[in-house]
Parts: sequence; structure tokens; C-alpha cells
Amino acid sequence: MKKNNKSDATGTILEYALEKYPVSLKLRDGTPVVIRPFCRRDENRLHKFLLAVPEEERLFIKKRIFERANFHEWCRHADFLENLPLLMLHGEKIIGEATLRQRPGGWKRHIGVLTMLTHPDFRGRDVSRMLIAEQVEIAGAVGLRKLESELNGERKIAIRSLEDAGFHLLMRRTDYVLDMNAVPHDYVLMGLDLRVEEEYAGVGE
Ligand SMILES: CC(C)(COP(=O)(O)OP(=O)(O)OC[C@H]1O[C@@H](n2cnc3c(N)ncnc32)[C@H](O)[C@@H]1OP(=O)(O)O)[C@@H](O)C(=O)NCCC(=O)NCCS
Repeated sequence: MKKNNKSDATGTILEYALEKYPVSLKLRDGTPVVIRPFCRRDENRLHKFLLAVPEEERLFIKKRIFERANFHEWCRHADFLENLPLLMLHGEKIIGEATLRQRPGGWKRHIGVLTMLTHPDFRGRDVSRMLIAEQVEIAGAVGLRKLESELNGERKIAIRSLEDAGFHLLMRRTDYVLDMNAVPHDYVLMGLDLRVEEEYAGVGE
């Protein structure tokens, strides 16, 4: 994976936090799954997974990641200190992902950004709950103080999943964001305060 802008110490802590993967678990219905970080050989299956997402949920995915060239570029230059996609697999198939985004510096360097997506065939079985729990643990380990997640206000299940994980509503603005078809939707910002494990968490770079 690409070299990043954050300090070597943070990189080492992240490497340490990722040492436990792959982790084998069972969904609430007993389905065996594995959680592990994204790697380059996942490019094709990750693309397939994203294409399985219903159109209305795709309208908010910011990067034009569905265009193959952009997607290939993103996969080639994945930088875990910037974007850490944790995948859940059932056999060879990706059934869910949760990504932790960190800022390289600035006044929001202590706030990680979380996004999550579950394959439509595997929803309501704890995929997202398990992935969020892993990312919360990683975020705490690398010294982030807070997590936030931005959503379309209509994504009620996603809001509930985040509330279940301890997130609370930070902001809601009516008709504040536009989807890719220029239709306005409510903007929701959810936040979580993390238990800080590192004494030097948030110290300026
Ligand atoms: C939000 C999302 C990630 C949840 O994924 P998931 O793997 O189905 O979630 P989980 O199984 O961990 O369930 C979390 C909670 O939501 C509930 N839930 C999941 N699907 C549900 C459904 N279709 N109807 C009602 N409740 C549902 C679960 O039952 C669980 O609550 P419970 O423990 O009280 O039963 C998934 O719906 C999704 O990918 N949505 C589209 C993308 C999105 O909106 N992402 C958020 C923006 S970053």
C-alpha cells in the first residue's frame, strides 16, 4: 500500500491494530464470515460488490468509483492511513464493507469518518454491526477522538445502525444535499466520542 502523510508512529500503531486480521466470525444466523482489510487482489470482487448496491443508494457515493479506470486507480493507491476499507467475506464473496477515513492534518485530524455498506442479500444479519465495532476499535487504537458519519436523512436503517453503535445526531439539515440526479435530500451528521488510548492523540503534525 502507498506511503502516507501521517507520522511513522501512527502508521506503526495502525499496522499493529491490523495484525489481528483476518478474523473469522459467525453472523447471527450462523453464516461463517471473515473480516480483513482490503488488498489489491480484491479489486474485481469489490467492484462486483459495489455494483450489487441498489441505484438509489449509489446516488450518494461521492467519487465516480463505478467508472472502472477511477476504481482501478483508487485500488492501486489505497493508503490505509487515509482510507481503511475493512471487508467482510463469505467464502470468496464480499458481503459488506466499512471504511474509516482519516484526515492527514488540520483541525479535524482527530475526527475519523465512517461509511458502511452491506450487500443487499446479507442485510439484517449483523454484517454492519460487526464491521462498525471493528472500525471503532481501530479508530480508538490509532488515537482518534471522535468518529462521524454523513448520511442522507432517508437512510433510516443506517441511522439506526449507527445509534445502536453509540453514535448520536450532531446535525440535520432539510433538503441540504443533492444526489447525482440533483434531487435535494436531508443531510444528517452522526457522531461518536471515542475512548482515547494514546496519550498523544490529536497532537499536531
Ligand atoms: C445501513 C446498512 C449498512 C446496515 O447494514 P446491515 O448489515 O443490514 O445492518 P445490521 O444487520 O448490522 O443491522 C443493524 C440494525 O439495523 C436493522 N436492520 C437491518 N436491515 C433492516 C431492515 N431491512 N429493516 C429493518 N431493520 C433493519 C437490524 O435489524 C439491526 O437492528 P437490530 O439489532 O435492532 O435488529 C445497510 O442497510 C446498507 O448498506 N445501506 C445502504 C448504504 C448506507 O445507507 N450506508 C450508510 C451511509 S455511510
